[in-house]
Amino acid sequence: TVPGAPTEKLLGFNPVAKSLADAVVVPAGYTASVLYALGDPLTGSTPAFKNDGTDSDFENRAGDHHDGMEYFGLTADGKPTFSGNDRGLLAINHEATTDEKLSSFFLHPNGGTMTLPRPAAEIDKEVAIHGLAVVEVRRNGAKWEYIKDSAFNRRVTPLTEMDISGPARGNALMVTKYSPNGTKTRGTLNNCGTGKTPWNTFLSGEENWSGYFSRGSADDAARGNDKSVASLRRYGRSQGATTRHGWETGGSDDKYARWDISKTGASADGSDDYRNEMNGMGYIVEMDAYDKTRLAKKRTALGRFAHESAAFGKVVAGQPLAVYMGDDSRNEYIFKFVSTAVWSAADATASDRLAVGDKYLDNGKLYVAKFNADGTGQWIELSVTNPAIAGYASYKFADQADVFVNARLAADAVGATKMDRPEWCSTNPANGEIYFALTNNSNRVAEPSGSSQSAPDAANPRAYTDMKGSSTQRGNVNGHILRVREGAAGSTATSFNWDVYLFGAEAKAAAATVNLSGLTEDQDFSSPDGIAFSAATGICWFQTDDGAYTDVTNCMMVAGIPGQVGDGKKVTLTYPRSNGSNLTVDTYVGKAATPDTLKRFLVGPVGSEITGLAETPDGKAMFVNIQHPGENTAAANVADPSKYTSQWPSNAGYGAGKRPRSATIVITKNDGGRIGT
Ligand code: FEO
Ligand code: CA
Ligand code: CA
Ligand code: CA
Repeated sequence: TVPGAPTEKLLGFNPVAKSLADAVVVPAGYTASVLYALGDPLTGSTPAFKNDGTDSDFENRAGDHHDGMEYFGLTADGKPTFSGNDRGLLAINHEATTDEKLSSFFLHPNGGTMTLPRPAAEIDKEVAIHGLAVVEVRRNGAKWEYIKDSAFNRRVTPLTEMDISGPARGNALMVTKYSPNGTKTRGTLNNCGTGKTPWNTFLSGEENWSGYFSRGSADDAARGNDKSVASLRRYGRSQGATTRHGWETGGSDDKYARWDISKTGASADGSDDYRNEMNGMGYIVEMDAYDKTRLAKKRTALGRFAHESAAFGKVVAGQPLAVYMGDDSRNEYIFKFVSTAVWSAADATASDRLAVGDKYLDNGKLYVAKFNADGTGQWIELSVTNPAIAGYASYKFADQADVFVNARLAADAVGATKMDRPEWCSTNPANGEIYFALTNNSNRVAEPSGSSQSAPDAANPRAYTDMKGSSTQRGNVNGHILRVREGAAGSTATSFNWDVYLFGAEAKAAAATVNLSGLTEDQDFSSPDGIAFSAATGICWFQTDDGAYTDVTNCMMVAGIPGQVGDGKKVTLTYPRSNGSNLTVDTYVGKAATPDTLKRFLVGPVGSEITGLAETPDGKAMFVNIQHPGENTAAANVADPSKYTSQWPSNAGYGAGKRPRSATIVITKNDGGRIGT
């Protein structure tokens, strides 16, 4: 039951069935309403969204592909507060856009230009729908609404000026034509998971930014095959790399030219070229959601990779703070940042919130996780003085800032554990254990070949979990949720214990090899992605971004009441190999879920991923994002709504036009109770 609310039973709702309907489905007794969708105006003078491809002025509208999200309370008279159940701000990531062959086709009247060069006017729209938003929301009786003309509303795009903060500020790696002294960069990109600091600011993770930068086909030699080439390759930019949208083709203006990182100027120090533009992306960005006059800050000490969420471990006065993070790409790593400064509770309510961020997030140590077969693990510090890093043959680190900017290479050097795509993480408020969603990994196979594939290990033990009964190597199709219990030192611990909370699987899959958590039809899920514990109820909410089970159900959100690391059992998985021998892998699975400890709560519309989770402090309103409904629509069908795979949210009565739109929904309980009871 909920503390202080003895009549409410946690997970008291009836689970929702798997669904292929083009609708948001929630349990009986709950209401889900659309609150804030792509294109909605964020100023009083911005025209209503027509949703027919002719809209412009996206710098003053909701962006696309709503992703991670945090709630920041306001008092009745509009002051920042950690409470504030009736009025607050949602800070939202607008990650990306629904596209085909370069064009974000739903944004343009006839689907846009699918060849290079792209027209500047189309690029300008596509750039502006990326980034961040702050939008005020208020409770009006039983309903919630967003405030179109709130003075708090804010858009941040890939062109908004930002500060480089922490160890890489002013470093040679940050020198660009835009910022010859390496202290600033423009904008944020492909923002995925989020975090909320103990001092009430917003953290946003930059994920798949690499794919927006182009690189010429002779750039390796043009750079003299120097160390920057090794860095670019490690971050997914081999020479000749093309971009997702061709933004670099819009013209000679810096705002287009910057996306081609092979462009050079005349100066020897690089201060007039674009080669370091990509070093300005890939960070945890801190933004003060309450103060739009302040530039956001890129916190370089937290490392540069495909960031997801940033979860603070248990906050203890007088102890350093720990921030946990995943790098979402196949066979990438899990990281922990530990602040140099120890936590002072007075900082929670300081008026200069970004100065508090400077104190805790600009100085500290970055660690990477190594998971052992016996259920223990180590945090390995990524220090330039570590002999494995200092002497790394594949990349010569210049200084500690270089280690943060090239954290993937440093993690390679120390032999960290390659994971099954670490998506979001979140800390269980009941016991401080940290949960990591490992969404899936097609490159986890029993018989690896080439450097991109990895054999199963204890923490990533499933190498083929094909739910359709095939024995071909398809990797870890359904993903799992791993959890970590820190050693006695808490935030500064360098050793930990771990197990797997849940393995994603179809309920009907083989119990001994695939459905290791014994999921039933009311619980089964595939590809966990978003994960967040409720501060109000302690419920562990997780959300799916799946391609493996979408023939049976749209993506979903599940509610769990987990136990703790070590409450389950050891299991051994056996993989037959082509030479006739068997590969066996031991792993540790948490206590099996029961109908009372794990229930499906929501299923989304066709083609959508469920993501983003924020709630009012009382737990009575929950905000969730529906990302890219209808994304599997063919661009050629943009003029024919009958051929859209989804018409949500217009089919839920929201807004003009039938083009599908990413949107934030708000979920309330009809009896006024807390969400998940
Ligand atoms: Fe944007 Fe890895 O999710
Ligand atoms: Ca995600
Ligand atoms: Ca995902
Ligand atoms: Ca996504």
